[in-house]
Amino acid sequence: MVKICCIGAGYVGGPTMAVIALKCPKIEVVVVDISVPRINAWNSDQLPIYEPGLEDVVKQCRGNNLFFSTDVEKHVAEADIVFVSVNTPTKTRGLGAGKAADLTYWESAARMIADVSKSDKIVVEKSTVPVKTAEAIEKILTHNSNGINFQILSNPEFLAEGTAIKDLFNPDRVLIGGRETPEGLEAVKALKDVYAHWVPEDRILTTNLWSAELSKLAANAFLAQRISSVNAMSALCEATGADVSQVSHAVGTDTRIGPKFLNSSVGFGGSCFQKDILNLVYICECNGLPEVAEYWKQVIKINDYQKNRFVNRVVASMFNTVANKKVAILGFAFKKDTGDTRETPAIDVCKGLLGDKARLSIYDPQVAEDQIQRDLTMKKFDWDHPLHLQPMSPTTVKQVSIVWDAYEATKDAHAVCILTEWDEFKTLDFQKIYFIFFGQMKSLMETRPLLMGGSFLQTFQLPDLVLANP
Ligand code: UDX
Ligand code: ADP
Repeated sequence: MVKICCIGAGYVGGPTMAVIALKCPKIEVVVVDISVPRINAWNSDQLPIYEPGLEDVVKQCRGNNLFFSTDVEKHVAEADIVFVSVNTPTKTRGLGAGKAADLTYWESAARMIADVSKSDKIVVEKSTVPVKTAEAIEKILTHNSNGINFQILSNPEFLAEGTAIKDLFNPDRVLIGGRETPEGLEAVKALKDVYAHWVPEDRILTTNLWSAELSKLAANAFLAQRISSVNAMSALCEATGADVSQVSHAVGTDTRIGPKFLNSSVGFGGSCFQKDILNLVYICECNGLPEVAEYWKQVIKINDYQKNRFVNRVVASMFNTVANKKVAILGFAFKKDTGDTRETPAIDVCKGLLGDKARLSIYDPQVAEDQIQRDLTMKKFDWDHPLHLQPMSPTTVKQVSIVWDAYEATKDAHAVCILTEWDEFKTLDFQKIYFIFFGQMKSLMETRPLLMGGSFLQTFQLPDLVLANP
């Protein structure tokens, strides 16, 4: 029986291993993590991450061939294949600060693998890492190997949160990069055999190590670039009276361009896009390619511009001041169907409005109060560390209240910002919301804007609603 161990029970490691266990009943899969609460949660009825379909998969295999443990060393020692899916934060100090990946957790995982191994192992890079990380890891492993043979593979994950299980069941492709030596090719085949349990062979691509590592950064950079392109276009649409959703539909029907990832939004978020592009920029700079670095940097600049533009628009539509005005924020997660808030544009929008002294009432169906408070007080890039090493929020932000109902959030609000495209927001009774908050304000003759962001950015002012329902 092949034994797999995955170091890191996060958004990538957890769902990926659960699906491998489900599809390969003869393989024993153990997911290990240094975070005790995270492992306890994986072993409980309340999984640590919200992902449609995940609970069902975990329940089918947990205790049979899927296990979650904090006994990292034991399970690594016993495994034939070790996936590494640990945090790779952006460096906040030293060489490459603000761009380069901090490989502290990766390096400590590699040293531990070398220390505890008593049999040959295939070590698989799962977390996104800068190109040539495999080479560095290979050095650490082979210099401390005690005669054990380690083969390093790069097997980047392309799943998107919210659709992780669907993406894992039916991936566009699985990419495996390895050394082009007989041992390297054998290792690639061993991993290919795991995926071949459910992925058609023509969708399993094999490349050299560096191509696999770079492909992951490139894929995320291309996706993010499409969003920045359409968001840049949204600014022009607003200036000219064009409708960005009509423009993106028209553009996307060209089969050479395609319709996906052309939704204008308040900006992209998530743990990957910004981090991977910053990495790409840094690699370009290190390789003497400043023009290429500048090109990709622009994708992030437009993303920041879009978030600022949204805040400015809210403030501008409320007589240039939001001081002491209540603004309802519907949605805080970086996209629907996840409770993940890493790099969510909601953080920047909320901080921008708080900077202008607004009072915020925030509702998200999946994000807990302490997470929102932590996000609003945490420094940039501090989120990407194991949970128990993340700074606790020193204080709560007083002008922020977190509520558990969209109607409660909008009560007496001066403005409503929809920042995540949760389906439930599409069916909210906006007439009711409008009358709840507008009723009291009529005497002041004030109009209150209703601004929508997220992946279905539309902006409409209350007079539109009045017209719709006189
Ligand atoms: C992304 C990649 O899609 C995935 O392949 C990779 O493995 C990890 O990074 P993820 O971050 O989970 O996945 O979410 P994704 O669906 O790509 O969305 C990222 C951000 O872009 C979200 O904030 C989303 O709202 C935004 N987005 C997406 C848009 O603004 N417009 C779009 O058209 C699509
Ligand atoms: P991703 O989205 O890439 O899965 P996460 O932050 O959700 O990232 O998960 C990474 C996990 O890796 C965290 O749960 C963290 O505790 C774990 N981790 C980091 N370093 C180590 C290590 N040396 N050994 C075991 N687990 C680790």
